[in-house]
Amino acid sequence: MDSRIPGFYKEDIDARREIVAERADLSDDAVAALDGRGLDPVRADTISENVIGTLEYPLSVATNFRIDGEDRLVPMAVEETSVVAAASYGARMARERGGFTTQVTGPRMIAQIQAVDIADPFAAKQRVLEAEDDLIDLANEQDPVLVDHGGGCEEVTARVLDTDRGPMVVTHLVVNVQDAMGGNAVNTMAEALAPEIESLTGGDVELRILSNLADRRIARARCTIPPESLAEDDGELDGATVRDRMVDAGAFARSDTYRAATHNKGIMNGIDAVTTATFNDWRAIEAGAHAYAARDGYAPLSNYEVDADGDLVCSIELPIQIGTVGGATQLQPVAGAAMEILDVDSADEFAGVLAAVGLAQNLAGLRALVSEGIQHGHMSLHAKNIAIQAGAPGHLVDEIAERMVAEDAIREDRATELVDELSE
Ligand code: MEV
Repeated sequence: MDSRIPGFYKEDIDARREIVAERADLSDDAVAALDGRGLDPVRADTISENVIGTLEYPLSVATNFRIDGEDRLVPMAVEETSVVAAASYGARMARERGGFTTQVTGPRMIAQIQAVDIADPFAAKQRVLEAEDDLIDLANEQDPVLVDHGGGCEEVTARVLDTDRGPMVVTHLVVNVQDAMGGNAVNTMAEALAPEIESLTGGDVELRILSNLADRRIARARCTIPPESLAEDDGELDGATVRDRMVDAGAFARSDTYRAATHNKGIMNGIDAVTTATFNDWRAIEAGAHAYAARDGYAPLSNYEVDADGDLVCSIELPIQIGTVGGATQLQPVAGAAMEILDVDSADEFAGVLAAVGLAQNLAGLRALVSEGIQHGHMSLHAKNIAIQAGAPGHLVDEIAERMVAEDAIREDRATELVDELSE
């Protein structure tokens, strides 16, 4: 499968859908889902509470991705203009040197058990550690299916925390959750171990819940971009200048939390869009990403360097909590179609793809920021939205948008004038 589809953006929605169906070899069900009404309200009522309707997002496909030698079309659902175009552009730049290379540590989630009111917290911690084998056995009794599939609790650690409510002993279970996101599995284990932790510590167990700082479940991606690919189209900035400015942008983010927050937001634009398209828990990934970014003082999740050949080397590292089994994906037919498009075989593969998408998003954003700025790219779709808001009929939307962009007057009052003028 070739993910490079020149002119894809110029096709109409039906034609794009046909191209994707053919390239991704989509099932009839997936094609029908893309053309259908999405989430059935009756189904929606089983997913959340007090449901009164469903909410649609645009579902797009980012092109040009090559990840670990394999071409991939990437489904993205996002309400923000330019995100999908930027991801595709970033992937295209990376493609020239073979695309993205990923590395994933394995699907290990952490559950925490908080014990309070302990007379001898340091000795209690040691008693917990001495009981590691029994605690692991007890945890694994909760999920024999996971154990049969090669997963299960692998490690128990414990710490004494000095809190403003006194010392607490916090036990961590490190659980290999295989291809699941794993939240349910680890929460069940943590709850089941509570009585044992109480008897070992002599205290009271309060919280028993996973940690979204999933630092035993790290995904990394890297790519290399030749400076020629970074040059501005109008020739104003050469590739080496754009490259160096991108390295400067990375340094800025490393030295400044205000900038690091926006830098990381750009990364999450891509990761959240894929996570939303596949109906997964993007809040878990968001929480993990920012907590990981903050582990030694808030920092960017990606880095930009220049290698010995003068190429730009881009890399990213963050926790990714995502699964291919369980979860809500199967409840939402369009998300099922998105998973078929993505075509990942395991949670680790999925995590690697998300890291690559986050990096593509980030590097394309930085390239735009250090050269023409991002407003330029936003303007034509923004102008179309303004034209529609001003009541432009379908056949006039493009013309009104183009006129407003050319006049540098993308405002609703100007759109209304143009609607009146061109409708006469
Ligand atoms: C916009 O949603 C994201 C950016 O602001 C990210 C960045 O500044 O790096 C373009």
